[in-house]
Amino acid sequence: MDTGILSFDEKGFVHNANTPLKRLLGLEQFTHLRQLEKVDTRLANVLKTLRPNDQKMVTIEQPKSKRLNLLIKSTPFVVENKSLMLISIQDINDPLSEKELDAWMKLIRVLTHEIMNAIAPVTSLSENLKKYYTQNGEIIRPEQVDEKIIRNTVRGLDVIEEQGKGLISFVKTYRRLTRLPKPELSPVAVKDLIEKAVVLNKSYRPDIEISVHLPHEDITLSADEKMVNQVLVNLLKNASEALEERDDGKISVSALTDDKQRVIIEIKDNGPGIPPELLDEIFVPFFTTRDNGSGIGLSLSRQIMRLHKGKLNVRSAVGKETVFSMEFPGR
Ligand SMILES: Nc1ncnc2c1ncn2[C@@H]1O[C@H](COP(=O)(O)OP(=O)(O)OP(=O)(O)O)[C@@H](O)[C@H]1O
Ligand SMILES: [Mg+2]
Repeated sequence: MDTGILSFDEKGFVHNANTPLKRLLGLEQFTHLRQLEKVDTRLANVLKTLRPNDQKMVTIEQPKSKRLNLLIKSTPFVVENKSLMLISIQDINDPLSEKELDAWMKLIRVLTHEIMNAIAPVTSLSENLKKYYTQNGEIIRPEQVDEKIIRNTVRGLDVIEEQGKGLISFVKTYRRLTRLPKPELSPVAVKDLIEKAVVLNKSYRPDIEISVHLPHEDITLSADEKMVNQVLVNLLKNASEALEERDDGKISVSALTDDKQRVIIEIKDNGPGIPPELLDEIFVPFFTTRDNGSGIGLSLSRQIMRLHKGKLNVRSAVGKETVFSMEFPGR
């Protein structure tokens, strides 16, 4: 069975239900949770009493086939001021791992949020614009159109155009994530790599002091220089942004080789830190806490590190510091 995904609101109205879920329940239309009573009372009860971020197991007997052991998880999210609950229902014998499923859930939540926020104003604007041109259900006559109507229409169309363009650029960014090229590996001197990124950061944030620590000057990596440079630039940019509020902001970059010959580059800042509950979230595509952030920097960077068979990790002490570490595999 593929993972079933379902979202519903506080009143039990179903907003979304995917095909695997409807197949599992044997329902063609699924509009309200109360329909579940007829399918399986145990499942209905579990779903109705789920609390945010709950995890429960249910065994259900399917009419024709076998018993299914289902793992049910809930994640709350808000769209247009409505609180919704996103539910995943997974056969525990399914090959998709729990971790992967969690990542999918987060991505779905972010995508839904972005898309709904872009589309909702378009729908309501279209409705309002139509009202200018209709009266008692009839289309108005051309001579009833006045300058005010025309002006409002153009203004409305401008907003619709803008929202559409925003959504297109959102999708383009998303595609960038899934279409990363294969790294072209060559020897890269870590010292040069760091120097270049530091110089670049200095050019737009001259106020921030960056110190570099290299115990051995001649550490080299086997990596795609452009891609790894992008990661370093992203991390320095994030660190600089985290230091916006303070005037004693400092970043330090260090590189070392560990006992397993792994090269590790660390970027540390003395900014506000990241609360523990957000440490996973920040790597989810489009997750951002900044007004004009796109939330792509870290997910892209982690993806690049994975393509290098390496890792991108973070540790942080709130109010003290944040350290991102790029780890390359040993040779
Ligand atoms: N050094 C840091 N200190 C504190 N918070 C950080 C740090 N780096 C990242 N974050 C948090 O992680 C979030 C996601 O970072 P990410 O780089 O993916 O996106 P962004 O910086 O918001 O947008 P952009 O796509 O422009 O990079 C940030 O919005 C911020 O909340
Ligand atoms: Mg960023």
